[in-house]
Amino acid sequence: KLFIMWDAHQNISAMNNTKIIHPPTISNVTPPVGVWYNFWKLKPLSPKEAFEEDLLLQSIAWPDTPALQSLSLRKSSDPAHSTFNILGRMGGGQWQIGDKLEVIIKMYDFQGHPKNYGGDVIVARLHNPTLGAGVAGKVVDHLNGSYSAVFSLLWEGNAQVILVHPSEAVTVLGRLTREQPDRVFFKSQFRSGRVSETTTCNVCLRPSRQPVCNYTELHTGQQWFCYKPKKLSCDARISHSKGGFTQNITVMESKLFQSGVNLKVSIQASGLANITVLQQKKGKVNLESGPSGYYYQSVWRALGNTTVQQFNTSSAITQCLRGKVIHMYGDSTIRQWFEYFNGALPGLKEFNLHSPKQIGPFMALDYPNNIFLTYRCHGPPIRFRNVPITELHYIANELDNVIGGSNTVVVLGIWSHFSTFPIEVYIRRLQSIHRAVVRLLSRAPETLVVIRTANPKALTLYETLTNSDWYSLQRDKVLRTMFKGLNVHLVDAWEMVVAHNLPHSLHPQPPIIKNMINVLLSYICPQNGEQKIL
Ligand SMILES: *[C@@H]1O[C@H](CO)[C@@H](O)[C@H](O)[C@H]1NC(C)=O
Ligand SMILES: *[C@@H]1O[C@H](CO)[C@@H](O)[C@H](O)[C@H]1NC(C)=O
Ligand SMILES: *[C@@H]1O[C@H](CO)[C@@H](O)[C@H](O)[C@H]1NC(C)=O
Ligand SMILES: *[C@@H]1O[C@H](CO)[C@@H](O)[C@H](O)[C@H]1NC(C)=O
Ligand SMILES: *[C@@H]1O[C@H](CO)[C@@H](O)[C@H](O)[C@H]1NC(C)=O
Ligand SMILES: *[C@@H]1O[C@H](CO)[C@@H](O)[C@H](O)[C@H]1NC(C)=O
Repeated sequence: KLFIMWDAHQNISAMNNTKIIHPPTISNVTPPVGVWYNFWKLKPLSPKEAFEEDLLLQSIAWPDTPALQSLSLRKSSDPAHSTFNILGRMGGGQWQIGDKLEVIIKMYDFQGHPKNYGGDVIVARLHNPTLGAGVAGKVVDHLNGSYSAVFSLLWEGNAQVILVHPSEAVTVLGRLTREQPDRVFFKSQFRSGRVSETTTCNVCLRPSRQPVCNYTELHTGQQWFCYKPKKLSCDARISHSKGGFTQNITVMESKLFQSGVNLKVSIQASGLANITVLQQKKGKVNLESGPSGYYYQSVWRALGNTTVQQFNTSSAITQCLRGKVIHMYGDSTIRQWFEYFNGALPGLKEFNLHSPKQIGPFMALDYPNNIFLTYRCHGPPIRFRNVPITELHYIANELDNVIGGSNTVVVLGIWSHFSTFPIEVYIRRLQSIHRAVVRLLSRAPETLVVIRTANPKALTLYETLTNSDWYSLQRDKVLRTMFKGLNVHLVDAWEMVVAHNLPHSLHPQPPIIKNMINVLLSYICPQNGEQKIL
């Protein structure tokens, strides 16, 4: 058993500064498989929300993999033995732009036997480095050990297929969430006069002799608890921090998460991986149910109704943002956007609020151009360090304080800090934000709301157990489903990272961020003739 102290920045290897800490008291009761520890109790939902939750859970159901007892590395998916194959063009002949290219992926285990069940986490892209082109493929699990990746053919290129996790690893990730939903835990400091105490906090706490403080937020219904300090009252809470991470997997299980072996490893083509494409005769390319966009000459082009424009100069960005108020809420992947604007616009001055660099809140002004930009992090379970209680705000409450209108842009990005909790926690958070967005858009329908989706990241064992792409993928589906039909715009960070040549990263590198910002700005300043969809 290893107890690892959470490190300051998620990108830094956790193992370097490992410390032993004491986990919360653990009850001796082991629940039956598939049942959370009985301490994990979430506030009941209204019938309508419970119905929505059921549908969402069904929509992200993941194929069953064998019981844990029979897990073995030898029988798990091995990217080195697995292969993919480009299927011939339907109807024969040369590939043409606009065709759908299908790749069949066949999974084998470490002994070279074909797999006969699904559940592997696979991402695929078609790319052409010479053209600076890339597009994400849509992966379909046939549940029999074979998968299809379907690409919209826009240029000639190479298919690349990556096994993110074998299905057996997903089984472990699912078990961890069921059995140890509190494996990431938090701390709060309490202080009064010269007395200071620190206790453990979480969405739910394991029962112990210690009484608890209930910090459930009444307006949004978001629950949060800390053990009560011995000497101080619950009111004496002054700060919130990530506490640590309880890593509890067996040696065998950890073999399912080996970089270079079965964690984010490319699968080789059994024949040619590239194809040559004939320019298509004139006519519109049918991209129904296709990707949301693609890179060409390293520039992201959207396939929806918005043309992505290039805001290459600070004056082009300033002109677009003139007279706007932009409020950004979320995790560090949204803070990255705030930082981008700050760096890209010499006229934009950050106001020094003496906020810690990781936490915010931040505020920047371009006075002559009347541009006002803010960033605030989302509420618990935020894994930041030393967040003052006064800065621990829920996004839904923030949105209820936004007047809104045609000059207001609201940007949301909330995903990566929810990965280790049962998805129900994320669903409840999004439901509260969704309600607030509905209220905002009904009192100020011209407000522009933009949501940044999740994205795949670099994975080590530690990063996987705390923030695997599989967790992100599941949350991303929930996010997209929940905001469908509402007048909000998405920046598809998932596809923009999968399709790009740069390595997956929690905080994507500047060329990707620049493209994301261009998508955001294109929503704010649509081209002449393009209607803002209202
Ligand atoms: C797996 O399922 C797909 C889709 O139904 C089918 O085309 C393929 O032949 C099956 N493969 C095997 C090995 O059964
Ligand atoms: C915590 O407080 C909320 C709001 O007052 C209440 O609904 C909930 O029942 C309380 N939970 C516990 C475990 O006391
Ligand atoms: C670790 O996992 C085992 C087996 O799943 C479980 O019995 C045990 O309670 C866990 N320990 C902790 C500290 O969660
Ligand atoms: C396709 O790949 C083959 C082998 O990897 C290589 O010889 C060929 O030049 C490639 N063709 C194109 C168009 O990239
Ligand atoms: C794009 O515009 C068309 C026609 O105006 C509309 O029917 C369609 O729903 C729009 N698509 C999206 C994704 O907004
Ligand atoms: C903006 O930069 C991109 C990429 O460097 C380039 O392809 C494009 O032509 C530029 N557009 C404008 C309007 O300057």
